[in-house]
Amino acid sequence: MSEQPTTEKVEKKKVILSAIQPSGTITLGNYLGALRNWVKLQDDYNCIFAIADLHAITVRQDPQKFRQNILNAYALLLACGIDPEKSPVFIQSHVHTHAELAWLLNCYTQFGELSRMTQFKDKSQKYANNVNAGLFTYPILMAADILLYQADMVPVGADQKQHLELARNIADRFNSIYGKTFKSPEPYISRSGARVMSLQDPAKKMSKSDENVNSWVAVLDKPETVMKKFKRAVTDSDAVVKIGEGKDGINNLIGILSAVTGKTAEEIEFEFEGKGYGDFKTAVGEAVVEELKPIQNRFNDFINHKDYLEEQYKKGAEFALRISQRTLDKAMKKIGFIAK
Ligand code: TRP
Repeated sequence: MSEQPTTEKVEKKKVILSAIQPSGTITLGNYLGALRNWVKLQDDYNCIFAIADLHAITVRQDPQKFRQNILNAYALLLACGIDPEKSPVFIQSHVHTHAELAWLLNCYTQFGELSRMTQFKDKSQKYANNVNAGLFTYPILMAADILLYQADMVPVGADQKQHLELARNIADRFNSIYGKTFKSPEPYISRSGARVMSLQDPAKKMSKSDENVNSWVAVLDKPETVMKKFKRAVTDSDAVVKIGEGKDGINNLIGILSAVTGKTAEEIEFEFEGKGYGDFKTAVGEAVVEELKPIQNRFNDFINHKDYLEEQYKKGAEFALRISQRTLDKAMKKIGFIAK
């Protein structure tokens, strides 16, 4: 029998990588469904986070706004509780290995595989006048993001599952040609992530691309805006605050209140027994305002300390380059490129 694994092996934390696009708005749905859980993962895993700015140019960006959005996304990540001392946070375009590995992986990905990506199909309809090649190869860049860090797990929402599956296929294919080079990443399914639905059409997921601004709440929305949006939230005609079929609006509001207060749905139902929807919606709005207040304060603080942000993203990029360069070198060597 072999020896017990060495302590090094036992103690080595698994690597989790995730990234977020700097799209200008981070919604309550992004926060409760993803970001807040990233914060919790920081102690148990080696987390690495990125602002996926290279991904963002698959749709046209206004240069000035884009620059602002990248920095805002960075500040917001820290404001939500990502601690760059624990988990490196970098800006994707600062780390040249991403675009380089993406090119290599382009040559190990089939046209047919990319054509099956449902997000590509949706986006090429939505941006019909700019169906650029980047929109098509976008999942390859995402695969590079993940594989460069030999990530064990990637926290993904339903919309990114197919992309992660593709990253696994690319890794497996490369490994089967050249021997083990990349770790095949697993999805990290969170137990606690809330699925936040639109406040106007609660059958749909909350999304900032919804034209109706009342359907989503941004993490940086002013308190009065948050209150207004919750007061207008769609409910039903039963007037009972209770989880139930055909009560998508109320179910969603109960879910949100539960996510921000930690109360169970039963506790909430009990608390609002005999009360009207008006009171309930006000209570949900107030609880969300309370939850967002410290994040907004920290965000304002960070955005006024650009030198601190710069220090952090530079450190993040240095770390990311060090790790990712090793993987890139290894892959290039296996393919047969001459070492520099
Ligand atoms: N494509 C992801 C999104 O739009 C963002 C992303 C880019 C990402 N690279 C990643 C997510 C790597 C996880 C891992 O949401």
